[in-house]
Amino acid sequence: MPSLLLTGANRGLGLALARRYAGRGWRVHACCRDPDRAHALRALAGAVRLHRLELRDPSHHAALLDALGEEPLDVVIANAAVPGPPDSPTDLDVGAWLETFHVNVIAPARLALALRPHLARSRLRRLVAITSLLGSIADNRTDGLLAYRSSKAALHMVWRSLAVAFAADGIICTLIHPGWVRTRMGGPAAPLSPEDSAAHIQDLIDRLGPEHNGAFLSWRGEPCPW
Ligand SMILES: NC(=O)c1ccc[n+]([C@@H]2O[C@H](COP(=O)([O-])OP(=O)(O)OC[C@H]3O[C@@H](n4cnc5c(N)ncnc54)[C@H](OP(=O)(O)O)[C@@H]3O)[C@@H](O)[C@H]2O)c1
Repeated sequence: MPSLLLTGANRGLGLALARRYAGRGWRVHACCRDPDRAHALRALAGAVRLHRLELRDPSHHAALLDALGEEPLDVVIANAAVPGPPDSPTDLDVGAWLETFHVNVIAPARLALALRPHLARSRLRRLVAITSLLGSIADNRTDGLLAYRSSKAALHMVWRSLAVAFAADGIICTLIHPGWVRTRMGGPAAPLSPEDSAAHIQDLIDRLGPEHNGAFLSWRGEPCPW
């Protein structure tokens, strides 16, 4: 049975991904901040194991590794993120910026490094970060969301660097922009449902090959501008 680990599995795109993979008979390690209140996740059928993971808490990372033991992980999806603080024209909220970078950049990097041996032991070896086109420097046509945009741009550099480092273990490191999705982060006006975005992302992950190591792709599999 192939296995997946993903973060932010309790709602939004993460919940839709957990549902799809569990529905296809995968073993799903579903990480969320509060498993006791993750009712929709708990209700999923299949081999779903919940893990408590507040991404900023090192003790949670350690407990997750203990729980996994030596288990191989075919696919890891770093999905959880925060939208960051609203912009102010005159100053910025340093604490909120640091939180944004901790959750959106540092924690996915930490998780990726810790899970490298688990990926290397698996058959598929795919390490995916859910990112955003808002983190594209080349495509930046609007202002706003400075903390979020810059955190995703930094995540891109982390994943490109991991792609170089992890190639020795045959691990494919890919960034995926999920589209504009109707979640708490995307809002009600977004054109894509979480289910549609998750279905495309799952198809894309199925098709990833060595040529996609270090790539930045849309949910439809098209290359995104850096
Ligand atoms: N929605 C869009 O249109 C869109 C567009 C481009 C990219 N994305 C990306 O898609 C991914 C999923 O976003 P979404 O739209 O599903 O957002 P969402 O509905 O706001 O869900 C965010 C998830 O991240 C978790 N999370 C936040 N802070 C955390 C922390 N400190 N530790 C652990 N988990 C934490 C949340 O858990 P709690 O429930 O505990 O808060 C939740 O499960 C993100 O990487 C986002 O940047 C989304």
